[in-house]
Amino acid sequence: MKIKVPATSANLGPGFDSVGIALNSYLEISVLKESKEWFIEHDLEGLPHDQTNLLIQIALKIAPNIQAHHIKMTSDIPLARGLGLSSSVIVAGIELANQLAKLDLDAERKFTIATQIEGHPDNVAPAIFGGLVIASQLDNQLDYVKADFPDAGLLAFIPDYQLKTSHSREALPKHLSYKQAVSASSIANLAIAALLTGDLKKAGRAIENDQFHEVYRQRLVKEFQQIKQMAKISGAYATYLSGAGPTVMMICPKEGLDLLHENLENLQMQGSLRVFEIDNQGMQVLA
Ligand code: HSE
Repeated sequence: MKIKVPATSANLGPGFDSVGIALNSYLEISVLKESKEWFIEHDLEGLPHDQTNLLIQIALKIAPNIQAHHIKMTSDIPLARGLGLSSSVIVAGIELANQLAKLDLDAERKFTIATQIEGHPDNVAPAIFGGLVIASQLDNQLDYVKADFPDAGLLAFIPDYQLKTSHSREALPKHLSYKQAVSASSIANLAIAALLTGDLKKAGRAIENDQFHEVYRQRLVKEFQQIKQMAKISGAYATYLSGAGPTVMMICPKEGLDLLHENLENLQMQGSLRVFEIDNQGMQVLA
């Protein structure tokens, strides 16, 4: 059995802690033979191979009595880069428990558990459902809407360095004034309305006008302003910090992807450029 969970890009500017998209880059968990102790075969630097691995920790939290297995974990989602790897691992851990303990959890239940563990729904929701997901969480009430992302090109600059979400969250203010909150939320409303109606020019403007987090975090990603300027000159609709960063995501017309890629390459930054597509399926369990 194999569990396949997509990478995700959260926030999309003003959709902070609420909005995310699923991408065609994957965490894959193959469940091999039963064993005495958990063993996770992988080549991800710094992650444990025994049951202290987050994947197993999550699975055991949900189903403490499941049989230990030899697991193979492969991922082309980079670690601590703002592409949702830890959320994908959480979602995979829930599914591992679901399969091994035959819990019969439906997608909504998995979403609730994953959000409780992660603290916010913006990465786990698209990892589970695929596509573009807008979610809200108020006390115990959790809701989401899954929608199609408009037809567009996605190009990410993934820096060579890591940025921990906890560090990136420390840059955020503790309070916003009522006036700031109303203004920031009007921008978020417009970004979502424009995305849902396929108006990428308006969506792009609103995404770039985020007042919730990017203004505070930009200084943590030294390449951000330069990329944003070059992307604008190259015809991109929007540039935003993917999740807590440091990956910078650009949304552009599909036919403008090559030029954007070429112009970004010429900046010779320390990191890699990667073209993504939207994954519309979300997590899959394969035989
Ligand atoms: N919404 C989260 C943040 C995503 O920006 O901090 C990363 O967990």
